Formats: sequence, C-alpha cells, structure tokens
Amino acid sequence: MNFTGAHILSIKQFERVDIQRIFDVADAMEPYALRRKMTRVLEGAILGNMFFEPSTRTRVSFGAAFNLLGGNVRETTGFESSSITKGESLYDTARVLSGYSDVICMRHPQSGSVAEFAEASRVPVINGGDGANEHPSQALLDLYTIRKELRSKGRSIDGLRIAMIGDLKHGRTVHSLCKLLCVFNNVQVVLVSPKELAMPESIVEELRNAGHAVTVTDDLTTSISHIDIAYSTRIQEERFNSKDEADMYRGRFRLNQAIYTQYCEPNTVIMHPLPRDSRADANELDNDLNQNPNLAIFRQADNGVLVRMALFALVLDVVADVDKHSREVAWYNSLRQN
Ligand code: NCD
Repeated sequence: MNFTGAHILSIKQFERVDIQRIFDVADAMEPYALRRKMTRVLEGAILGNMFFEPSTRTRVSFGAAFNLLGGNVRETTGFESSSITKGESLYDTARVLSGYSDVICMRHPQSGSVAEFAEASRVPVINGGDGANEHPSQALLDLYTIRKELRSKGRSIDGLRIAMIGDLKHGRTVHSLCKLLCVFNNVQVVLVSPKELAMPESIVEELRNAGHAVTVTDDLTTSISHIDIAYSTRIQEERFNSKDEADMYRGRFRLNQAIYTQYCEPNTVIMHPLPRDSRADANELDNDLNQNPNLAIFRQADNGVLVRMALFALVLDVVADVDKHSREVAWYNSLRQN
C-alpha cells in the first residue's frame, strides 16, 4: 500500500509486505524511543489525539510517539469536553478538527465511527479503537511483540501457535489480531472463551479461509499446553448491558504461576493488551507472574511506541528524514542506561 497520507482504519488494508515495512521502520525507531538520540523531523506538525473512550496506553503512547518525532499533540478526551455533546455530527467535527491537525488519532465507542470520521477528514486518521470492531495499531504492536519474543526462541510467525483467552466477542484487539494473522501461514489458533463471549463467526471463517487451524473451546487448562503465546484479554465490561452481566464472566480464565507451571510449555509467552483487570474477582493475570521472564505485557506496551512512531513516519512520509534531523540527547535518562 501507499502509506503517504493514508488513513489507518482496519487491518484489512495491509498485505504482508506492508506489515514487514511497518516492522522495519519500528525497529529503526528504537534509538529514539530509548532516548539514545532525538529527532525533530516532525517539528511544527500537530497530532489531534481524540479519545472518546477511556484510554491510557493507546492515547499516551500515540502522543509520546508523536512527541518523540518532534511534533506537538493536542488532545480531546471524553464526550463531556467536546461539542459532540451539543449535537455536533462526526462529519462537522472532522471537517473542523482536520483543519487544526496534520494527522488525527481517534477512539470512539461506536463500530465504524472512525471510518465515518475519516471520510470527512482532510488529514490522515488513525483508528485508536472503534467500539468492539477494530484496533489496528494494537494488533500491529501485538504482532511486532510476538515476532520479537519468538525470534529469541528460534520460531517465527508462520507456524505460530496462539491461544486467545477471555472476551473474544467484544475484544477489538483480538478481532484485529486474528485478521492480521490471516496474511501469515499455518497458524494454530485456540479461541478460549465462555460460549456467550465467543469470537464472531465471521472472523473464525476468515482464519479458516486463510488455512489456519482453529479450535474453539471454553476450557483454559487444556488449551494452553501446546502454544507459543497465551494472549489474555479483559472482560469488556463497558460493552455489556449491565455490570452484573459482565460480572458473570469475570474471573473465569485466571492465569497464575501455578497454572502456568503445570500446564504451559516452559517458554510460553504471556501477553495482554492491558489494562489487565487485577481486582480480586477478576485477576486475569495474577501478580505472581510478574517475575516470570515470559510475561511480555510491559515489553508489549513499550513496543506500542515504536509501532506508533512507525505509523506516523510512514503516513507523514518522513521515514528517510528521521535520522537527518537527529542529535544526541543531553539529559540523564534511565531508559538509555538499560
Ligand atoms: C484495549 C482496548 O482498548 O481495546 N486496550 C488497549 O488499547 N491497550 C483492551 C482493553 O481495554 O481491554
């Protein structure tokens, strides 16, 4: 695909070669993300970061990625502080805000809303999550993480064995990740969820049409014994009619060190898009896994900055100029020391 000026709305836009390109650029961003060097390549550019749903990682890492490339960030969070509460349409909001920004990242509770916004926008729009539909930048950083974690174990994405666990019905990260895996070969996908929260059938079909082996189950322990990646997800409480309904499923698939030791192969990598629900009644990934070297959740979150820098550099067509605008970093920075 031609990245320059493109909207990033769905994983469906990418072919394998595009994903490789994003990953190569993400690799090249590491010295900047670790503050070994700084660049001003996007000096003067403005990111409109519009988050109409709760977000910590996605919002802050998109902002930090833009800052690390030298650009400025303008942020709107929540409907309360936006004219959408006054009845303004997505079309009008997009026409106006795209005049104030060079690129826009948007999260919104409705499926399809970010694409609708992008149609009216005069600048590229990146989907930061539209309802239960898609979360393309998360899937890219997830796959980037999988590739990195597996590489040290001598395995690759082709032939990957992955279990996705939890609320697969509403989880947009796993929807996008499944779509992304469709461009790779010979993947074994185990989908572990309560029956009511199963992966949408259309996505299961896409995986099967890609030639992948898909197992659908509601049993955790038998599902995690022959996999490379255990990808846990949160019960998406905000997509249920009531908290009580969500509570019925909370805590169904807990993973802790004892279960890991008993059932997983010793090198199984544990991932989660975060936030993990650490409340006692949920406790998706127990804190006793924090010392497990295969718990990749924080490396995964760190990788979000690299992948998001890559998306900005590609969409704004500055990949070749990043290093030209670089210089040494003067301040003490702990990240650089590690
Ligand atoms: C995810 C999301 O918002 O879809 N979080 C994230 O962006 N890292 C997953 C979640 O909220 O459970």
